[in-house]
Amino acid sequence: MSAAVPKKRVAILISGRGSNMVSLIAAARAPDYPAEIVLVLSNRPDAAGLDRAREAGIPACAVDHRAFADRASFDAALQAELDAAGIELIVLAGFMRILTDAFVEAWAGRMINIHPSLLPLFKGTHTHQRALEAGVRLHGCSVHYVVPELDAGPIVAQAAVPVLPGDDADTLAARVIVQEHRLYPAALALIAGGGAALEGGRVRFFTDRARDASAALLSL
Ligand code: GRF
Repeated sequence: MSAAVPKKRVAILISGRGSNMVSLIAAARAPDYPAEIVLVLSNRPDAAGLDRAREAGIPACAVDHRAFADRASFDAALQAELDAAGIELIVLAGFMRILTDAFVEAWAGRMINIHPSLLPLFKGTHTHQRALEAGVRLHGCSVHYVVPELDAGPIVAQAAVPVLPGDDADTLAARVIVQEHRLYPAALALIAGGGAALEGGRVRFFTDRARDASAALLSL
């Protein structure tokens, strides 16, 4: 990437331990990575990820949702933090708060999420347990653009893992999270680097290299 192309200014939104956040911060340290993580926000002041972000030298702050009367005023407070930091892309990483349709629509094509299943299977919570109960042999994770309907946005990239005999939700989750940490930085690089974008409700890949990079994320 040419030094003349400015890096995209990214905020990561978390609610918990922030292991995906850590993998994104680490990836973004590479000089040629097309995004810069400039802010971490959490709706929970006790999120362990806040301290992990600060240890990595990234400004991190809590916007405690319990301090707001409704979702719209919470989202307005988030928006103010994002505006103050000049954020161009939002990355949801274990952010467990439903955002208003107005906020999601304002960030259409500029906000992505990682979900621990091969979407459109197993939207919502407890994905690993539900995958085991459904008896699927293949499970994984998906990075998708955020749309108002939960976990329903166009898919940027996916990574698959086998479901093995004897798995429980914890062993399966442990296998999936390894792939999440690989997939999310790669998917963000595709978008921030201009290789992929949301267009007409689908993800468009602009170069053969970007399309191939997305396809390569499928293989284990
Ligand atoms: C991940 O499994 C992610 O897919 C889901 O929430 C979890 C967050 O984990 N959305 P972490 O906080 O990144 O460790």
